[in-house]
Amino acid sequence: MAQEQIAVIVLAAGMGTRMKSSLPKVMHRLAGRPMINHLLETVQVLAPERVVAVIGPDMPQVAAAVAPHPTVVQAERLGTGHAVGQARAALAGFAGTVLILYGDTPLLGADSLAAMLDRRRGGPTPPAVVVLGFRPVDPGHYGRLLTGPEGLEAIVEYKDATAEQRAVGLCNSGVMAVEAARLFGWIERLSNDNAKGEYYLTDIVALARADGLSCGYVEGAEAELLGVNSRVELAAAEAVVQTRLRRAAMENGATLTDPASVHFAWDTRLGQDVVVGPHVVFEPGVTVGDRVEIRSFCHLEGASVAADSIVGPFARLRPGATVGEGAHVGNFVEIKNATLETGAKVNHLTYVGDARIGAGANIGAGTITCNYDGFAKSFTDIGAGAFIGSNSSLVAPVKVGDRAVVGAGSVITREVAAGALAVARGTQMELSGWADRFRTRKQAETADKKKD
Ligand code: UD1
Ligand code: MG
Repeated sequence: MAQEQIAVIVLAAGMGTRMKSSLPKVMHRLAGRPMINHLLETVQVLAPERVVAVIGPDMPQVAAAVAPHPTVVQAERLGTGHAVGQARAALAGFAGTVLILYGDTPLLGADSLAAMLDRRRGGPTPPAVVVLGFRPVDPGHYGRLLTGPEGLEAIVEYKDATAEQRAVGLCNSGVMAVEAARLFGWIERLSNDNAKGEYYLTDIVALARADGLSCGYVEGAEAELLGVNSRVELAAAEAVVQTRLRRAAMENGATLTDPASVHFAWDTRLGQDVVVGPHVVFEPGVTVGDRVEIRSFCHLEGASVAADSIVGPFARLRPGATVGEGAHVGNFVEIKNATLETGAKVNHLTYVGDARIGAGANIGAGTITCNYDGFAKSFTDIGAGAFIGSNSSLVAPVKVGDRAVVGAGSVITREVAAGALAVARGTQMELSGWADRFRTRKQAETADKKKD
């Protein structure tokens, strides 16, 4: 039998009032990207035929995050069953399995989804509905799965459940795999005659059973089914994601000396034999080559670091920083939108912005590229093998040629030719014996005052 087609509906119409935020809940970030994008990436491994998200009114940012997948708007929040109903037109002509996910359950693993789809296909009478259940330590207010000899019989919402039903430990994660051909027929038959006055998606299980069809469930782990409803739960989900990312980094051949203090973004890429010291933060868009050492307390974002280089401690790589092979970026150095070519060294207390530092060039302590005049950014170009003396200001746009030397403390405003020395600072003068004469005079004046 040909592999059955999958369509995915993600429910994300809720604002998430308990987040106390002007941002829709699914736009809150985990490892640097909105939680709904974590979910969308996870479902990609199933190669779905189509994906549609149900969003609330006035959520253009969610629509943008979901794009190129389409979104449909649920104008009134009448329940999860009603929300699924909004996707009917978007699923027109689809005949396979519909996977329904909740946008606030972002840690869901692809393995659980695959297990659900296997269950949907399995056996002589494949179940029309498969639910992903779990047994949380505290079942709290989750819906409960009611099972019988023939599998899943019904899902009862906590508010509607009897004391006996509330004692059931097997809970509804919200994830469902449903036969497309029957889904919307059941959605039409849902009633809102229940404790919340909502159209519950969960009631389709009882409807399927009433139609004489079987329903099944598989069990997932609590950690992947954690729902994010508050900032506290968001932090708990972040911790789970960070643990996964740290483990993946180490499994891929990076050493993290103190994994718990390293924060990754969802897309951080580390090469082999990279060593990351304690308290390093990777924001999105960072790529690190083989054998790079990122020493403690560095902050990297939108940067690429080529093989064999050393960054930090206490370095900041901002978007557009490109560190070439074997280059060194030392303490209290900030690099933004600038390229350090092979073997270049910027070791101490320096700002390099909108610049190219040629291969093997050495930038002295306290050098500043003055790239901004309050209106526009300008470029500084430093040639290969150049040497910039400490405490120099390079007023952009400006160019320093290959192998040129800039004397310490210079303010460079004009091009320096290749191989030349440029010194641009006050000339040193010396008055012989002046300090001694000054001290003698002052001491005498002080002694006179004391006598008065
Ligand atoms: C739901 C389940 C419950 C399950 C729990 C797991 C139902 C009736 N109940 O309860 O069995 O244990 O999730 O976390 O489904 N949404 C919409 N439109 C709506 C209502 C909800 O898009 O009209 C979206 C929300 O944005 C959210 C998801 O659906 O992403 C779940 O809604 P929520 O209100 O959180 O359901 P629970 O009460 O948690
Ligand atoms: Mg919920």
